[in-house]
Amino acid sequence: MALLEQLNKRYATKKFDASKKIAPKDLSALLEAVRLSASSYGLQAYKVVVVEDATIRKQLRAVAWDQSQITDASQLLVFAFESDFDEKGVDRFVQNIAETRKVDASTLSGYSDMMKGTLKRPKEEINIWLARQPYIALGFGLVAAAGLNIDTCPMEGFDPDQFDEILGLKSKGLKSVVLLAVGYRSAEDDYQHLAKVRRSNEEFFITI
Ligand SMILES: Cc1cc2nc3c(=O)[nH]c(=O)nc-3n(C[C@H](O)[C@H](O)[C@H](O)COP(=O)(O)O)c2cc1C
Repeated sequence: MALLEQLNKRYATKKFDASKKIAPKDLSALLEAVRLSASSYGLQAYKVVVVEDATIRKQLRAVAWDQSQITDASQLLVFAFESDFDEKGVDRFVQNIAETRKVDASTLSGYSDMMKGTLKRPKEEINIWLARQPYIALGFGLVAAAGLNIDTCPMEGFDPDQFDEILGLKSKGLKSVVLLAVGYRSAEDDYQHLAKVRRSNEEFFITI
């Protein structure tokens, strides 16, 4: 299927078929697409928690407006940024580049200094920047899932503090920002039949 056809077919799934699980091969491909996301500087200062446990998902649903996607999707991905990301994180990243590309870490000192300079901005500003990054990975996940014929629902309708508590993210310095429920639509989900509502090209694009 061509990309645009896939993107027209995808929709924010409200009712998943709880009996359908994503095959391990397809789930791996989807997670790999998320991991391949672009991020500022390439830092990837966030984690993706793959929640499968039914008991935990029941608890999560209770603090996510009782949305059924939380429990009925095949998996629930929780995107959480590293709220205590600091210069040590930059050093680990630089080390990873050096090892992956077989270059001496000292050749990357300019890049390292630039990233550390960014981290000197006010903490509030840094956290806004860090919290944006997982949304790019979310986008990669949405598009990749459409290509794999996997249905999804991106979700912000949840209590991040409660999620962090239930998933033990607080102690890891992680803050959840957005979710991606992944699985297969229920035949009873009426939303799949609705026409896409989008701004017109004229309203959406500005060509200068
Ligand atoms: C960041 C984000 C958060 C969203 N949160 C929810 C949510 O909590 N629950 C829900 O059912 N849909 C949620 N949606 C889905 C949107 O309502 C949906 O993408 C939008 O209406 C466009 O429809 P479509 O995705 O079906 O084309 C969210 C979408 C995004 C991008």
